[in-house]
Amino acid sequence: MISLVPAPISSREGKFPGDPERYAAAMAARKDDFGRIRSPFEGSLVRLRAVEEEDLAPINEGIWDPRVTQHLSIVWPEAVAQTREVLDAIRAAESNLLLAIETLAGEFVGSVGLHGIDARSRKAELAIWIAREHWDKGYGTDAVRTASRFAFREMNLQRIFLHVYDTNPRAIRAYERVGFKEEGRLRRAQFVGGRYVDMVVMGLLGEDVIGE
Ligand SMILES: CC(C)(COP(=O)(O)OP(=O)(O)OC[C@H]1O[C@@H](n2cnc3c(N)ncnc32)[C@H](O)[C@@H]1OP(=O)(O)O)[C@@H](O)C(=O)NCCC(=O)NCCS
Repeated sequence: MISLVPAPISSREGKFPGDPERYAAAMAARKDDFGRIRSPFEGSLVRLRAVEEEDLAPINEGIWDPRVTQHLSIVWPEAVAQTREVLDAIRAAESNLLLAIETLAGEFVGSVGLHGIDARSRKAELAIWIAREHWDKGYGTDAVRTASRFAFREMNLQRIFLHVYDTNPRAIRAYERVGFKEEGRLRRAQFVGGRYVDMVVMGLLGEDVIGE
């Protein structure tokens, strides 16, 4: 009879009786994911986790920095209480997933969300921001990759898309490094800093992901 219960460690170690080092080396040499437990929320540089009450102040400070908001559709600063209301509303809707981004050492750096999660078409729109002092360290790319991997492998989504201003080459570069492709351009779709900017539509399918 086939047992559905995993074999105990001792019997798996029995492949190399009396030689735990050889067993450990054999497991380490495996190229697939099954030889170790890997958190679906962990990338190579960042970890995604639930947004906690103590994140509200850093979120408020980080997101309402004009160097950040110039790339987002939000415009004027809000008090922490309003930020809490917005986050609560986002989290209350089943079509949204919002996660804090922290370094592997546990420092909060930003947040990433999947919005408009569509059960029928298995797609969602990705949004991300990283606090200015943490830009250009690879965190954004790693967070987008980790959130996308989670969306495809754990939520069974098949398409992630986003809108990015064409005045934001840093974001476009980060998305391209994960495998997002430009799919179109909405001309003069947003008014930012006294002028209209084009919005680039980018999309990622499960098979497009680079560097898992
Ligand atoms: C966009 C954002 C999330 C990217 O996060 P990040 O941690 O700074 O990004 P990374 O460090 O992972 O990658 C940035 C890449 O852009 C490159 N880059 C930086 N400035 C650039 C520029 N002016 N032109 C082209 N590429 C640039 C970096 O070299 C890096 O590429 P590399 O890894 O090949 O060297 C972050 O900058 C941010 O929050 N910006 C403000 C809000 C925002 O734009 N959100 C997205 C809206 S669609």
